[in-house]
Amino acid sequence: MAKLKVGVLISGRGSNLQALIDAASADDYPAEIVTVISNEPGAAGLERAAKAAIPTNVVDHRDFEGRETFEDALNDVLSAAAVELVCLAGFMRLVTDGFVGRWHDRLVNVHPSLLPAFKGLDVHERVVEAGVRFSGCTVHFLRPAMDEGPIIVQAAVPVRAGDDAPTLAARVLAEEHRIYPLALRLIAEGRVRVVEERVLITGAAAPEGVLINPAPV
Ligand code: GAR
Repeated sequence: MAKLKVGVLISGRGSNLQALIDAASADDYPAEIVTVISNEPGAAGLERAAKAAIPTNVVDHRDFEGRETFEDALNDVLSAAAVELVCLAGFMRLVTDGFVGRWHDRLVNVHPSLLPAFKGLDVHERVVEAGVRFSGCTVHFLRPAMDEGPIIVQAAVPVRAGDDAPTLAARVLAEEHRIYPLALRLIAEGRVRVVEERVLITGAAAPEGVLINPAPV
């Protein structure tokens, strides 16, 4: 079967991009990354893509008058590569309702919290400050509001007593690298449907049980 053609949008380090590249390097992975676009010319993720022989593009938002013209340029690159699904991977620009509508249910984002809690920036600082016992990460279809939309996969991690934002971020990031490739695989296998703004996944059983942190003694 033909692989789903994916475009990945980044702004920086690109460790989630790397997780997707690594997953897609397997012959039986059902998606392929056909283009990587960064709005930041110096993004380290561009080198990761180049190393994997994936075409890279810089579309610098500072070169455009407004968000629409910037996004027109993004769409030109995505169309030229025949992209079918767009993955935001640390893409730190807000997108317009027009862009979200153009890619309805074909635009996926990863966010380092258990959405809908802790949308926005400085997530881990706010999580530690709030004193919650669990955090995690979410892969979701994007809707016209920041970090909103039907949830595809989440992973939870404990927030430990000694955590600060960097230690928690590292624990969460390791799970982002697991669930983003998983979510993309489920989509590419045609197992993900959005029904009344909730995601239904066929053929994936939810694990039983409860998580308690700190664990009862
Ligand atoms: C990731 O933690 C991702 O969840 C976050 O930016 C980081 C990018 O890291 N994205 C957001 O906060 C979006 N709201 P990466 O460039 O190494 O993948």
